Formats: sequence, C-alpha cells, structure tokens
Amino acid sequence: MTDETLETVLTENRVFEVPAEFAEHARIAGMEQYLDMARQATQDYEGFWAEQARQEITWSKPFSQVLDESNPPFYKWFADGTLNVSYNCLDRHIEAGNGDRPAILWEGEPGDTRNFTYAELLEEVGKLGNALKSYGVEKGDRVVIYMPMVPEAVVAMQACARIGATHSVVFGGFSAEALKDRIEDAGAKVVITADGGIRGGKTVALKKNVDRALNEGCDTVEHVVVLQRAENEIDWTEGRDVWFREIMERESADCAPEPVEAEHPLFILYTSGSTGKPKGVVHSSAGYLLGAITSMKWVFDIGEDDVYWCTADVGWITGHTYIAYGPMAVGATQVMYEGAPTVPDPGRLWSIAERTGTTVFYTAPTAIRALMKQGDEWPNKHDLSKLRLLGTVGEPINPAAWMWYYQVIGGGRCPIVDTWWQTETGSHMISPLPGAVPLKPGSCTLPLPGVMADVVDEEGNTVEPGSHHGGLLVLRRPVPSMLRTVWGDDQRYIDTYWSHFPDQYMYLAGDSATRDEDGYFWILGRIDDVINVSGHRMGTMEVESALVAHDKVAEAAVVGRPDEVKGNSIFAFVILQGKREDEDLEALREALRAHVTDEIGAIARPDEIRFADALPKTRSGKIMRRLLRTIASGEEVTQDISTLEDENVVRQLQGKA
Ligand code: WTA
Repeated sequence: MTDETLETVLTENRVFEVPAEFAEHARIAGMEQYLDMARQATQDYEGFWAEQARQEITWSKPFSQVLDESNPPFYKWFADGTLNVSYNCLDRHIEAGNGDRPAILWEGEPGDTRNFTYAELLEEVGKLGNALKSYGVEKGDRVVIYMPMVPEAVVAMQACARIGATHSVVFGGFSAEALKDRIEDAGAKVVITADGGIRGGKTVALKKNVDRALNEGCDTVEHVVVLQRAENEIDWTEGRDVWFREIMERESADCAPEPVEAEHPLFILYTSGSTGKPKGVVHSSAGYLLGAITSMKWVFDIGEDDVYWCTADVGWITGHTYIAYGPMAVGATQVMYEGAPTVPDPGRLWSIAERTGTTVFYTAPTAIRALMKQGDEWPNKHDLSKLRLLGTVGEPINPAAWMWYYQVIGGGRCPIVDTWWQTETGSHMISPLPGAVPLKPGSCTLPLPGVMADVVDEEGNTVEPGSHHGGLLVLRRPVPSMLRTVWGDDQRYIDTYWSHFPDQYMYLAGDSATRDEDGYFWILGRIDDVINVSGHRMGTMEVESALVAHDKVAEAAVVGRPDEVKGNSIFAFVILQGKREDEDLEALREALRAHVTDEIGAIARPDEIRFADALPKTRSGKIMRRLLRTIASGEEVTQDISTLEDENVVRQLQGKA
C-alpha cells in the first residue's frame, strides 16, 4: 500500500477547483476565508478555540479557563465550565422552535422505515435516561451498548449523555469474547443490546453473545436492557434482563439533563493498537462536542436544507461523531440505514439516497471500491441530483475510486472531502473545507483551522513540504476534541502518543505522511503493526494472540496484504505445535478462521493462512515482518535473508515447500 500510495503522490497532479456554485452557498467560501481562520488560530490558539466554544456550545455554567497545560499530556479544555451534551443535541433545537424537524430517517434492511423528529427523539432519550437511573446508573457509571444500526442505538448513547453516564459502544460484529473484555475493562453496570441485528439477510445474535460474555465473567453488570429487533429466539435471565420497550412504557419522558464538567468522560471507545489488548480511548464532553460541531459546519458545510447521511456503524468513532453527536448537535436531518449495501441489490445505497433526497453523503473508500466493482448501472438507475457534497474516511482513497465517486456518484459537481482523523482525535483533523480548498484525488489536503498538524522526522523537525520525503504525522498542539487518556491506563496513553520525541510533547498519530509543494498532506500508511481492513483498524498482535490461543498453534505472525477492495486483507503465517504432515491443513485452516471469529469477530478472520515450520527471524529473534509483508503480497523477495537460520523457511512461507 505504501509504495503504491507514494507512487500516487508523485504522479497525481490533477487539481479540482471549488465549483463556483458550491462556493456561492458555502459557509466558508474561498481560500482567503480559510487562511484567515487558520491564521487567527495560529496567532491566538486558545482565543480561537474559546470563541468557538462560546459560540457553538450551550453551557450550563460558562468556562473561564481555556486550555490547561499544567500537567502534560493530560490536557484540559474549558475545565471550569459545565454542560450537558444531550441538551446540546436535542433540547436546544426544540427550544429554538425546531422540535418538528426530522432528526433521523431510518431504514431497516428488510425495507421497514421509522422517522423521528427532534421532539420525538428527546422523549425516547428522556424515558431511557429515567430507566437507567431506576437501575442505579449514576453520573460516571459505565454503560455498554451492543446494538444493531437502529435509532435506539443513538437513543441509548444520548440517554447516557443525558444522565452523565459514560457509554462504551461495542461494534455489533465483535464476538462474545471481545465484548466480555470490553465490558470488564470498562466495569459496566448495564448493557443495552437487542435480541439480534439484521445484516445481509442474516440475524446477528447479539443477545446470545451478551449471555455468553456474562456467563464467563462481567460481574459488574446488573441489568441487560434488550430491544426487540430481529425477533429471534433468546434466552432470558429473570431479574437481570429487561425489555427495552417495556421499561420505556412505564417511564416518564421528563428527565432533566445532568450538567457535567467539561472534562467529564462522555464515552470510552476501544480501538486497536500495535501491542496488547485494545485500548479504551476516553473522550471528554465539551472538547469532543466542540470538534463534532465545528467539523459538521466547516467540513460538511451542513445547513438547514441538507439531508445528511453517514454510512458508518455507531460501533466506530465515525458513527459516534458523525451520527450520534455531530449531526444532532447542529440540528441536522440525517439518514440512518441498518443493513448491507448490496441487499437486495448493489443499488441499495443509491436508492435510499434518491428516496430521502440525500445532499451530503459520507462513506469509506472500501465501500466505494466495492460498489464501483458492481458497475455504473446501479447508481445510474437512480436520481442522485440532490447530492451536493461527498466525503470519505478511514483510509487513503486511490485516485481511480476517487474519480469514480466524483463523476459517477457526484455527477462531477460535488466536492469530495477526504477526511483524515482517528478514534483518538475525535473529529476531523485534516480535510478540505469544500467551499475553500481545491481538491487533489488521494490527498486529504490541509489541516482544519486550529489544528497544528505537521510532518516531522525522527527528531521532531519539520519535513519541508515539497521535499518528497515521508515523515511522521503529528499534532503540535493538543486539540479540544482529542482523547484524554486510555481508560484505566494513563501510562499507556503517555507511551503510545506522547513519548516518541524526547523533551517535547507532540501527539504522534501513528501514520506516516508527506506534503507536496502546496503543503497538501498525503497519508502513506501506518507506522505500527496496525492494519486497515475495510476501513477498520486491526492490530496484527490481536489476531496473533487469538491464533496462538488455539491449542494446535505454536506461533503466528499476521501482516496486511494489499487488497483491491478492502485496502488490506489479513494474512496469517502459522507454525503448528505438531508436524504439518500430520494435519488436515484445509480443515485446520477453517478451524482457525472460525476460532479467530470467535475470539474477536468476523472482521479479524484471516483471509489467508499459510503454514510453515518456522517464522523468519533475525539473529536477535525479531520476526522479520517486512519480509512477511513481501511474501504475503506475492512480490519477489529482495531483502537480505542471509541472517536466517534456515533459508528454506522462506520457500515454505511462499507456499512452495
Ligand atoms: C486511517 C477512523 C488516509 C489512518 C476515523 C488513521 C486515513 C486511522 C484517513 C484511524 C484518510 C483515517 N486518509 N488514512 N482520510 N482517515 N485514516 O481510529 O491510518 O478507525 O490513523 O478512525 O485510519 O482509524 P480509526
């Protein structure tokens, strides 16, 4: 991927100017306005963010402190202010007379639909907030949400925010085992789930996974709230399990929003790193909300007439910031879809976009590539003329997919915002402002105002734009929306993000990047052992530990292999406890795939597994990962392998021996 991306950077020179018609109505129009904002932020960093925070957030108690850097890297923003995030997302729109505005236009995979206005959503949130309180959930308690893509998932998140509980959403595709780890790490009191989710025509047995997780531990959990969705059969534990709709019926909708401190943890979201178990990224209330709001306005240029649609799942950060919080906080109307993009046919997304009159559409490059493969006839069947802005997130987009998105989906008239950010940054960091910044396919262009992104060398010195050198992507100043720590592990927070450069605190993103002559950022890939599979972050170590937990496996090494659609596929090299000859390798492959699916979830299932007698290691015992990546990609091995104990191992790994 990296070489290919670098190739792109060096050869891609198309520039797409801002369409005049778009600029005419844009919130931020023209390069001058962007530069002006960026300049203000540089000149008075705290003043810039303080002004945004005063304008965009309705405070319960105004703040007087802006950025507190007294104990780096534990930064605090607006610390003496208090607010309620759910008030900012719901009540304030209703108080402004917009209670009847549609908030969520939901469509289920089977074709059922449900719509909620802001007023209706507030009722749901109030009832669930009261129900959680009746189960003893108090400010600061943790609630795990393990839900399909239904409006109640957003209701659950907002209800936690309303009463000051800290939620942790676990993606519905994660296994019982992965769910258990997260529930235990967070110490959740309540789990909110559904009987099942529906995807690709199948039922995802969510409640069953919750039962399995709770049977194996999770002693802190007192109640499980179960929404009926798929109507699959489930087991029931009296006294612990309660039906979502039953408790909603008996609760009052009147639930006063609990003001919390600006730094109060709104949520924990687990994400993969290069070592150990997934880490619980902790987000604040005010700073996080501010990033969500400013980016909705600056990057998505969101306005009253827009119908906005982000196709992410609420289990990922994109679904948090750009479904559950951002669109709500700015009072937008958004589309939410439950199922697979190809059910009943590959035109599903375009059909929904047409029927809802979607104007702003946000998805991942992997989805674009998958739908592009299905052919132009699918989008061409639908009227997509309402679209005015497109976005991508999650991985670099290759220029071919960019051009298809631009021309076939956007009709050549919609800017594409290629948004670079991370679970840790909470909101967009580098992205075109569509009315201001000319586009280059494959580049996320320029940092947002108030984001001091840079590309540096190992010593932390800026790599000059246009020098054709790659470097480490960093943020030179803490931004309001970024993570505050790793849940329960401050040291890991320091080590992972803030310890790379001696004597200075700079946030290390974990990506490499380069900048061209115009200062445009081009993301080259991860610098660690994290791979990007279909836009999802996967730690190779996580998959390796899942594999070695199988009793036939002695050792495993996992690498990413470039994949036309997924970005990367998962390639595992496995060394067995016994002799390879004694095993039915095909059956074992399947068993190992199933085992990883059980341990983590289907997203971690290895696409390919190759068995060998040993892993290639240096004399000092380090696995030669670069060599494994070369082998996985099927490229010729040009690395020096003379240090290997047994050169025949390479032939085995190549599948030749
Ligand atoms: C990658 C997703 C290139 C990057 C919001 C980052 C991107 C990781 C882009 C974060 C982009 C995200 N161009 N690469 N526009 N957006 N990435 O935490 O490697 O799931 O570090 O957050 O995805 O993934 P995460």
